[in-house]
Amino acid sequence: MRFDIQTPLGLGSLCASVLSFFCGEEGQQQGRISHYPVLPPSYPLAVRNPYLSTWMPSDRVQQLPYAESQFWAGQELGWSVMVRVDGQAYSLMGVPDLEGSGALPATVRHAEFTATHSVFDLTAGSVKLTLDFFSPVSPSNYLRQSLPFSYLTVRVSGSNGRDIQVYSDIDGRWTGREDRSVLDYEEHDDGLVIHSLSVEDSAKYAEASDMALWGKAILASRPSESSTLSASAGDPKTVREQFAKKGDLSGQEFTWSYGSIAALSHDLGIVHGEASINFVVGYEREAAINYLGEEYTGYYRAEYPTTHKALAHFLDDYNNAVLESWQLDQELKTFSTAAAGSKYADIIALSTRQAYGGIDLTIPNHSLDTEDVLAFIKELSSDGNINTIDVIMPAFPIYWVLDPEWIRLMLEPVMRYLDAGRWHLPYTIHDLGSHYPHAIGHDDQKAEPMPIEESGNLLVLALAYARATGDIDWTGRYMDIFQKYADYLVDNSIDIANQLSSNDAAGPLPNETNLAIKAAVGIKAFGVLSGKENYSRIGEEHATLFYEDGLGIDEEKTHFVLQYPGYPDSWKTPYNLFPDVLLGLETFSKDAHRMNSEFYSTVRGEYGVPLDNRQDWAKSDWNMWLAATFEKNTRDEFVDDLWAFMTNGKHNWPFSDRYVSTSAHGNAPGTPILCRARPTVGGHFALLAMKGPGSIQTLSVNKPVGMRGRNGGKPPLKSHGLEL
Ligand SMILES: *[C@@H]1O[C@H](CO)[C@@H](O)[C@H](O)[C@H]1NC(C)=O
Ligand SMILES: *[C@@H]1O[C@H](CO)[C@@H](O)[C@H](O)[C@H]1NC(C)=O
Ligand SMILES: *[C@@H]1O[C@H](CO)[C@@H](O)[C@H](O)[C@H]1NC(C)=O
Repeated sequence: MRFDIQTPLGLGSLCASVLSFFCGEEGQQQGRISHYPVLPPSYPLAVRNPYLSTWMPSDRVQQLPYAESQFWAGQELGWSVMVRVDGQAYSLMGVPDLEGSGALPATVRHAEFTATHSVFDLTAGSVKLTLDFFSPVSPSNYLRQSLPFSYLTVRVSGSNGRDIQVYSDIDGRWTGREDRSVLDYEEHDDGLVIHSLSVEDSAKYAEASDMALWGKAILASRPSESSTLSASAGDPKTVREQFAKKGDLSGQEFTWSYGSIAALSHDLGIVHGEASINFVVGYEREAAINYLGEEYTGYYRAEYPTTHKALAHFLDDYNNAVLESWQLDQELKTFSTAAAGSKYADIIALSTRQAYGGIDLTIPNHSLDTEDVLAFIKELSSDGNINTIDVIMPAFPIYWVLDPEWIRLMLEPVMRYLDAGRWHLPYTIHDLGSHYPHAIGHDDQKAEPMPIEESGNLLVLALAYARATGDIDWTGRYMDIFQKYADYLVDNSIDIANQLSSNDAAGPLPNETNLAIKAAVGIKAFGVLSGKENYSRIGEEHATLFYEDGLGIDEEKTHFVLQYPGYPDSWKTPYNLFPDVLLGLETFSKDAHRMNSEFYSTVRGEYGVPLDNRQDWAKSDWNMWLAATFEKNTRDEFVDDLWAFMTNGKHNWPFSDRYVSTSAHGNAPGTPILCRARPTVGGHFALLAMKGPGSIQTLSVNKPVGMRGRNGGKPPLKSHGLEL
């Protein structure tokens, strides 16, 4: 992964000044809002794939009725929600200018997030309103997981005979090129109403500042049993004013130009007690991914090939999806609390949607063959590479926990490319393409070079997959390729040439100890995977050389050094030991882990331990990896420190996996650096992963028949007489 390219936008532009300007105006008193379980930096609203990733910075929640949402990279997106109670309109979210609209701001009471929901409670007059933003995480249900949509449920309660209308709109900024956006509107016989916004004449696969310019942004809904639905589009003031006055959008001519909004309104009539309605927002791309020149499309299109059918199914699926999500939320909370306490459970809850929100799950567009499923992951906010091995690697604990098939789904596109002989270098390729969604390889052989990093990663991931699923057919098919990289590590991982590791912002080094550790563990992983004991032995010999014989540690045996030989005071978090512990490989001895447990309490900054002795920044994913190898006290310190960063209220990006952890270099500790919304937060699951693969029951219980993975969920197999 790379961190050296700045994203083009002013990161984290706080609109506080804009907000306070409008906020003073209506003179409303927003009381204190309670945040449960804690205040996150930003709330995921609709976070399902790299192009449907909409967030609400938490410093805007206090003024939610005025607050705009953001794309993960920081672009503002117009998304408003209003309600009308006995003829009085209220803004619940996203109306920056209420003046003259006839609407009042509702009062925000409570904000909450779980692994799959972000929920805001407000009051409007005597009525209670809940905005429930729900992005399903259902990796074992490929259909549900692949749908590029998210639910917004607006729930009304405490309405004793009030006359209620509920409204939502989105604007042209969702297309990434508002100035060239066009609106398409459909009404179907089943009542489904769809606004689609797209960019006129845009090129397939084109991006602007990470937003997709091809495909379409969607706002859709369907009348409930007790509501009638109307739609409009045009100037925001006009459309919202009509809602405020009439509670009904019909009878207005649709217009579309720069600054327009596309709106839907439900008239619920007189409500006694409770009522709720669902809106859907989405971003659909028929050609989702360019895989080696072939279009791959969302998995769901095999069953629901049109936008209308897919949306109708998504709405039909709501009850099942929401039931599963509540179970998943609860189970994740219970398990992660048991694994490492309630702070850890908070970290897991905020990481889950983000981890899957970097991925598309696809099949070939021409055949719609559901046997040919491939997953693609975007290296968000560093360089946009596709299927980067050292992004899949840090994230893999979440796949291990929730559905280990995803390790194969993400590696398979890369393995096919390597198997085709198009990559000629003796070590593993860094990624499958320089920029998402082009998974076109590097026939010019110019992928970012990380020889030991990626070779070690691939071998560990292959073993983790085989171990978790029992599928040794898949690993067997590519065994020759794996052996080639194991041989590379055997030959090149003691006297290590100057090279980058995953943390390329730290620059290259020769003889980096953590890479030597990765290589030793990778060689042993290959030995176990292949049953070739000579590799297992070599991996162990490397470990002996670096630990017992002291090449990779200081003389007093207090810590692994950053670099060898001759840098006794240097250190770097040896997180590559995590898979050794997770997979029970025992390449390194327990003494090595005990040493680390003691040492890493002694180099702790205000917000935890930085990556190495040269940096003032930490990587949250790697720190959770390392924490999983520690004894309880040091582990808890690492969890406390990451939680303190996540909840300190000093930043408002989607969960950043890179942040200043110590003031030692004069920077403000507890502030993020560059990395936003990266799927690498899947690495936060490392502590949970220690409970075993596929340990979350909700997902396997709810797995549709025929989607139980290649091995039918059989227990892990023995390979060549060795326990895999
Ligand atoms: C996807 O495949 C269908 C059926 O072959 C074809 O009509 C359509 O044009 C394809 N879409 C894209 C974006 O290539
Ligand atoms: C790297 O380590 C090896 C083994 O100790 C040593 O022979 C070599 O000189 C070192 N390289 C550098 C650049 O220090
Ligand atoms: C390990 O042994 C196998 C034969 O079982 C051989 O093909 C391979 O080259 C050996 N590798 C190393 C690194 O010794």
